[in-house]
Amino acid sequence: MAQVIAICNQKGGVGKTTTSINLSACFAGAEKRVLLIDLDPQSNATTGLGFNKYEAEKSIYNVLVEDFPIAEAVQATEMPYLSLLPASPALVGAEVELVTVMSRETRLKEQIDKVRDDYDYIIIDCAPSLGLLTLNSLCAADSVLVPVQCEYFAMEGMAELQKTIQLVQQRINQNLSILGIVLTMYDPRNNLSRQVQESMRKYFNEKVFEVLIPRNVRLSEAPSHGKPIVLYDVECKGATSYIELAQEVMKHTEAKDLPLHEEREEDEVVAEGVEAEFQASPFETELSIPAPEHNVLQGALDSCDRTS
Ligand SMILES: Nc1ncnc2c1ncn2[C@@H]1O[C@H](COP(=O)(O)OP(=O)(O)OP(=O)(O)O)[C@@H](O)[C@H]1O
Ligand SMILES: [Mg+2]
Repeated sequence: MAQVIAICNQKGGVGKTTTSINLSACFAGAEKRVLLIDLDPQSNATTGLGFNKYEAEKSIYNVLVEDFPIAEAVQATEMPYLSLLPASPALVGAEVELVTVMSRETRLKEQIDKVRDDYDYIIIDCAPSLGLLTLNSLCAADSVLVPVQCEYFAMEGMAELQKTIQLVQQRINQNLSILGIVLTMYDPRNNLSRQVQESMRKYFNEKVFEVLIPRNVRLSEAPSHGKPIVLYDVECKGATSYIELAQEVMKHTEAKDLPLHEEREEDEVVAEGVEAEFQASPFETELSIPAPEHNVLQGALDSCDRTS
């Protein structure tokens, strides 16, 4: 039965889509059956795998809004073990159209449950927001993988994301856990990159994957050729790093027999660590961004409660 992993960070441009495409392709290269779901109206995972976002006959939009079966909307890709559920720009309307629909936060989960047995991994590429689409991904997922860019403002939004995940755990999806944080666009020549890495490892401990995804021009070129990095240039540093990440993720997900409540406690400790970081940061301006009082998802969850 598939492990469902949401690749999520409401911050834009941190490497969610690059990680979604390449992690999926590395799993597929290891002969794991993979479904990549593009849940972002920007449709970058769709175009990054060589599909035209305006031409998909059926997309995740039809699945979410019209109950169209996932199995009939998936597209085969160049890699035999990798399938794609494409997005289209119409998806931008889904956030609004779903507002009046019953159980709107569990639409994706209901559909994914029907195809779980057909795959080993289902990877969801989320949009840079904490709206209804992302809420659907967190309700459907077993775990969340958070790409964090090794840059100024790396920590921005981490506390809010953690609070969101905890809210979903408490209210809708008790099984949701944080699979890990992957540091992206790492540049060892850059002091800031090294500082961000140290600080992330200090506060998130073993939740940060060992492998560092380097800033690598081949990774940014590959989507314009419609290929994952393992087909575009399997020997470059970007490819070997994503292969290592896939190996780490497989190790975690395949040996996952920890009692769930223990994981939950661990996540809470991490959240406290972040709060402490906000208060006692060595890089004040970079890290001392308080979590907003009003959580966007809290509002969405509250209104779900009222209507369902
Ligand atoms: N390791 C890397 N090395 C070099 N360029 C990278 C790397 N990872 C991502 N990029 C580039 O950075 C940009 C943002 O990456 P990506 O689209 O994966 O981020 P994202 O989090 O999905 O963005 P969004 O929030 O808009 O969905 C892209 O142009 C991508 O090609
Ligand atoms: Mg993206």
